[in-house]
Amino acid sequence: MPYRAIYGWVFVMNSKPQLSSAPPRGMRDFYPEDMILRNRVFDAWKTAARQFGFQEYDACVVESLDVLIRKGGEEIVRQIYAFQDKSGRDLALRPEMTPTLARMIAARQNALSFPVKWFAIAQCFRYERMTRGRKREHYQWNLDIIGEPDVSAEAEVIGAAVHALGLLGLTPQDYQVRFSSRALLADLLEALHIPAERHAAVFLALDKLGKLDEPAIRDMLADAGLDAHVRDRLFEIMTLKTLPDTLAILDRKTPAYTAAERLLDLLANGPAAEAVAFDISVVRGLSYYTGIVFEAFDRAGQFRAIFGGGRYDNLLADTGGRPASGVGLGFGDVVVSEILADKRPSAADPSGPDLHIGFMDEAQCACAMRIAAAHRADGATVDLALHPEKAKAFFSRAQKNAALEALYIGPDDLAADTARVKNMRTREERILPL
Ligand code: HAM
Repeated sequence: MPYRAIYGWVFVMNSKPQLSSAPPRGMRDFYPEDMILRNRVFDAWKTAARQFGFQEYDACVVESLDVLIRKGGEEIVRQIYAFQDKSGRDLALRPEMTPTLARMIAARQNALSFPVKWFAIAQCFRYERMTRGRKREHYQWNLDIIGEPDVSAEAEVIGAAVHALGLLGLTPQDYQVRFSSRALLADLLEALHIPAERHAAVFLALDKLGKLDEPAIRDMLADAGLDAHVRDRLFEIMTLKTLPDTLAILDRKTPAYTAAERLLDLLANGPAAEAVAFDISVVRGLSYYTGIVFEAFDRAGQFRAIFGGGRYDNLLADTGGRPASGVGLGFGDVVVSEILADKRPSAADPSGPDLHIGFMDEAQCACAMRIAAAHRADGATVDLALHPEKAKAFFSRAQKNAALEALYIGPDDLAADTARVKNMRTREERILPL
């Protein structure tokens, strides 16, 4: 059949336009079978957040563009889906939740009692170059503590994320959490006589370690004003293996060093002990981080970060609030779902109804509805047939639906005032008075 493609629409000549059945590139549809894994992940996030004493919040997906924009060349800002509404307001689909959280906290800063511990599951949009584990839309568990200057806050958010991974059946054999400190890195840069105003550009370049090749990173460092000798020294620093190794360059324990040391101590005595390691090369690509930064990766090294976060001590003030420190993380659904699917590709569907009810003729419909209503009132999940059907078709549907029990009512049952409820797993039957 002749057709023409115009702006992505396919027109079959002399008929209606045919829309593509696929979602826009990088966006996802969730069919019922996809919701099983998604709900498993969301349930683990919510359970862990509540077990760690975090309260749930939410916000609009559309945010004012100026809340999200920061100067300084961060990738995330270039990836924003921005648009104008019909009145010319500059808006965007949020690429992350943290600026919105800061805006919400700033709006109620006088009324809230700190530290605030909040969590959200936020759908975020980024115009990304797509790879495995990277989409243009994802759900992100955000877990933040506002108003706690001590690294106990970092220990708690990392502990909660590790707990959520445990609830999903993942152990430290599957992943590792690596942390460093931007404040410590700033001390090291200072020891190399790199002035503070160049640190942000240096952080952005160093965040590309392992993502870009070395010459590309050297070029970025040259653009940040570092000469060849300093660039060499910096690459040496990025190979340091332990926290004490940094003392050779610092020559004393700075406050940032002491904070990192204390965090290592807190984590070593907690549930995340086996999962966590110091790694100087963790820098993070978001410019608002000021202190500890951390990321979790799968041990096989197949994916981008499972989660990432850190301390941001200036964001509240930059968003119009009073200065307050923040610590938090974002944990996306895409990477962890891929890891879980790889580990257990055919997870059994546990989500069938308790009871599937069907009937042979219209005459049994009212009785079927009454039984469904009684079971639902008792708290059972019931899938009620919407029209009469043959017994064979009904039982095959009940089987596909993974129903625990099936009840099929015919004229004889109505006459006898009882019917047989069949357990679809054991095939045993019980008699139910109608
Ligand atoms: P982020 O590192 O940009 O941090 O994102 C956090 C996590 O979200 C990533 O580790 C990854 O799991 C997931 N993620 C991000 N982008 C994508 C994508 N395109 N496709 C799939 N998954 C993705 C933040 O967004 C910070 N706001 C987190 C934070 C909260 N820091 C403090 N509080």
